[in-house]
Amino acid sequence: MLNKIAVIGGGNIGGVLVQEIVRRKLARNVALMDVKDPELAKGKALDILEGSPVLPADIKVEGSKEYDVIASADMIINTAGVPRTTRPDGTIPTREELLATNLKITDSVSAGIQKFCPKATIISIANPLDAIVYRLYMNLKPPREKLMGMAGVLDSNRYSYFVAEAAGVSVENVQALVMGGHGDDMLPIRSACRIAGMPVEKFVPADKLDAIEERTRKAGGEVVKLLGVGSAFVSPAWSALEMAEAIIFDKKKIMCVSALLQGEYGVDGLFIGVPALLGANGIEKIIELDFTDAEKEGFKKSITSVQKTKEEVIAMAK
Ligand code: APR
Repeated sequence: MLNKIAVIGGGNIGGVLVQEIVRRKLARNVALMDVKDPELAKGKALDILEGSPVLPADIKVEGSKEYDVIASADMIINTAGVPRTTRPDGTIPTREELLATNLKITDSVSAGIQKFCPKATIISIANPLDAIVYRLYMNLKPPREKLMGMAGVLDSNRYSYFVAEAAGVSVENVQALVMGGHGDDMLPIRSACRIAGMPVEKFVPADKLDAIEERTRKAGGEVVKLLGVGSAFVSPAWSALEMAEAIIFDKKKIMCVSALLQGEYGVDGLFIGVPALLGANGIEKIIELDFTDAEKEGFKKSITSVQKTKEEVIAMAK
């Protein structure tokens, strides 16, 4: 149990996060910060506190429109940003189209973290994922262990679910890994996908796996279309908590996170989804996978698109 976790952005994802942090008793103090009128964060905090005797959980939950509520948090989970939502003409913006708006929001989030809890471990969820994490890095310059983005865990969970469904097995039997940027070029690693320790191809035919991988790349958009308003919020919150629990309980658990590469995979200075070992110190190790030739090409393509967005982030900061 940590002393304090602060969630920034109290919308759909932030609301699920605070509920689950309280239910799972991950911290003695939970802060929820959101700028929305009249007092969205206070309202969500009060709602959860009034339910706390049911659990029961003696956890202090405080909501506020002001950043001082996050003071001295050990961990920050950042969800502040505009989600993808279906436009009136029926089209859906790409995650990259959210960039300008969400970068401005990220600058104010960074200032709040800098002022009130500069040493906190940060898990960021806002989109476009790798770009927002890069902006947090530009603004805060934390040690690389302490800043990471949540996307690969969600993409891997989506892939696992689709594989389990196709194979007719428990989700507990499937291990999956989706690497790369959190965009259409993300890379489901078929060679790393196992069902009860056996290669996935033993259970699911190759053409079905092609379709599952394509569905995984587009899975966020599929939910956006179905919801009509906003984007997926339960699975992203649960996925971020899988990362938070690995850190809080020092699990040394390997999962795919957006991390700052410093020479790994031949890349320097870019945040992109790679397998990492998470423990009490945050990102304790980055694992370098032996790719097949096709996977190597796919990862290169994903690096190129994340690099392009990174350059836009830098240009927009000028
Ligand atoms: N500080 C704090 N909160 C902010 C700020 C800010 N500067 N600017 C906006 N917010 C809040 C909004 O008021 C809103 O309540 O962020 C919240 C975002 O919540 P939702 O709109 O419900 O979005 P959600 O589905 O939770 O997704 C949040 O995560 O997956 C990504 O694409 C998604 O970027 C989006 C983010």
